Amino acid sequence: MGFSLKINCRLETSFCLPLGKPNNMQKIEHIGIAVKDLEKANSLYAALLGVEHYKIEEVASEFVKTSFFKNGPNKIELLEATSEESAIAKFIEKKGEGIHHIAFAVEDIRAEMKRLEGLGFRLLNKEPKRGADNKWVCFIHPKSANGVLVELCQDIGE
Ligand code: CO
Repeated sequence: MGFSLKINCRLETSFCLPLGKPNNMQKIEHIGIAVKDLEKANSLYAALLGVEHYKIEEVASEFVKTSFFKNGPNKIELLEATSEESAIAKFIEKKGEGIHHIAFAVEDIRAEMKRLEGLGFRLLNKEPKRGADNKWVCFIHPKSANGVLVELCQDIGE
């Protein structure tokens, strides 16, 4: 599959979808960090940030256990694999512990998925799926984002 991101907006304005629309990426929602041992990492991050995690949540469909920290307006998500099938287990095996993804908040995840797909980004899931912390999520392949796994997330809000 060829990668054809239409980046040269100044020269080819007709290719560029409107930028800065309310639906586009609004802010960094959280940073995901892959850890081997969630309990140990929770203590470490509590010491580092000076605050305890505010929730632990298992996402069975993704084979991960997560914990969340607030740091001012920002969030950190720690992720531990619960099975060898987990993407987190594979990530740690390949690269070791560390930053796993950057998540951006969006208002309308389907519209944003469509927008990014139209620009040539490779989506890892065709439908939004249920993620941790009450979000619909979709991931973008790191190969289409300079080696960074990007997560879109929209509040489920119930
Ligand atoms: Co995340």
